[in-house]
Parts: sequence; C-alpha cells; structure tokens
Amino acid sequence: MQTITAVAGLRCVLAEARKAGRRVGFVPTMGYLHDGHLRLVEASRALCDVTVLSIFVNPTQFGPTEDLGTYQRDFARDEKLCRDTGVAILFAPDAKEVYPPPFETFVEPGELAKPLCGAFRPGHFRGVATVVCKLFNMVQPDIALFGQKDLQQCSVIRRMVADLNLPIEIITVPTVREPDGLAMSSRNRFLCAKERRRALAISRGLFAAADEFRSGEREADRLIAIAKRHLAMVDTLKPAESPLRRASALCAAAFIGSTRLIDNVILQQVAI
Ligand code: PAF
Repeated sequence: MQTITAVAGLRCVLAEARKAGRRVGFVPTMGYLHDGHLRLVEASRALCDVTVLSIFVNPTQFGPTEDLGTYQRDFARDEKLCRDTGVAILFAPDAKEVYPPPFETFVEPGELAKPLCGAFRPGHFRGVATVVCKLFNMVQPDIALFGQKDLQQCSVIRRMVADLNLPIEIITVPTVREPDGLAMSSRNRFLCAKERRRALAISRGLFAAADEFRSGEREADRLIAIAKRHLAMVDTLKPAESPLRRASALCAAAFIGSTRLIDNVILQQVAI
C-alpha cells in the first residue's frame, strides 16, 4: 500500500494504473475507520483493480459549534486497517492541499440538501458536496462507494454527479451494524456505556416501524409514531407522502447525550 499526501503524487500513480487499464474504486472517509468503512473497501475490491481510500476530516462540512476539534483521529490505526484490508492507495491530504488559499469556490447542492440533516446542520451538505467533488477530481475514479447510513449524503452526491456530468458510478453499500443493531459510526465512540444502551432506541424504533410496514402499514405518520416511541429525543423524522406508495426511507436523527447519531431503514414494497 502507498500512503500519499499530495494531489500531484496521487495523479502520477493513478495515471500509471489507468494506462495499464486498471479500474479504480474510491472510498472517501474522514478516518477513524470502522467495519462500515472496511465493507466499502471490500465492495470496491470486488469491483475494481485498485482501491483508493481517502482520509480527510473536512472542515467545510462542520458548523462553527460542531465537533471538528474533537472528531476522533488515529492515523496509525487507520493506516494499518487499510493495509490489512487491501487498500492500494491511502490518500491523506492536509487542509492546505485540499483548500489551497485563497479558496473560494463551492458546490451548492439544491433541494435534496435542505431537509433532515441539511435543516439541522446548515451548510453541511455544501461542504460535503464541495469536498467530494474535489476528491473526485483528484482521484478520478471509475466508481465511488458510500454507506447507506448517510442516506441523504448519498442522494446529494448522486444528484451532484448527474448534474455536473461527473463520469463516476456511485455505489451505496448497506449499513453495517453492531450485533445489537446500532449502526456503525465513528461517533459511537463518544458514547458512554449508558448512552450506548440508549442509542439502541434508534435502530429498534426503525426496525419496529419497518416490521409494521412489512405487515402492511402505509401511513407515514403511524410509522413515524412507532419509531418515535422508541426514541429518547428525536430532532428530525420527516414524513413522506402518505400513504406510502413508492419505496421510501424512514430516517432518524437523535441526540444521545451530546452525540448526534443518524440511521435509516428503507421501506420497500415487495411486488407480488
Ligand atoms: O461520510 C463521510 O465520511 C464524509 O461526509 C465524506 C463523504 C468523506 C466527505 O467528507
């Protein structure tokens, strides 16, 4: 595995790979890797010859009062995990490499970025879209892989790729969960033992609502009420058009202590 910090070096190595006809898969991350990230690497390796994983804690997607300063970092551990999982290139630029001053051009996502996390975290998806667009231009992958846990992020990125004609296939990989159902997230490490137990209410609520959906419930409000019953404190559950006729997702965001966690389940009507 090669660890590269400069865009110029990355371009050189990847130009060689592309000249040799190799397919490039890309997994963008902010580090502090967990099994969810490693599943993305495995999926990329199954589809591509070369997997690039980036680690960059992107300042532009954090609000002024958010956890940028305390966001967990452990580069040595991440590097080892990448090596062990078969990442070919670990791209770890610093902020000056990604945003060389006087940086002033941003990607502004539209309506998809407004509800849910977008409403709660103003400017978040502008930062995500901008850094992902820049990373796509640096890596120029054939495919890029994202976790379903960040469902709204996946939608914003898919729309950006379509709107800006970026020649990249976006692959969404199902959420990886702890054995008790909690969706894996770098932020789970902020939870104390009591909060970790309370956090289970998020996935339990979503699974209970998904069970009701499977039993035929199509009223969005009732499904949301079922999920909410399990949740200690919900900041956003946005209703879809009710009754549900198309595939929908039930998305939850909840503060467990001071840690904001998100999760979702896809409600898919099975054709009979
Ligand atoms: O999902 C994340 O970890 C980040 O939002 C991403 C896509 C790496 C952009 O910084």
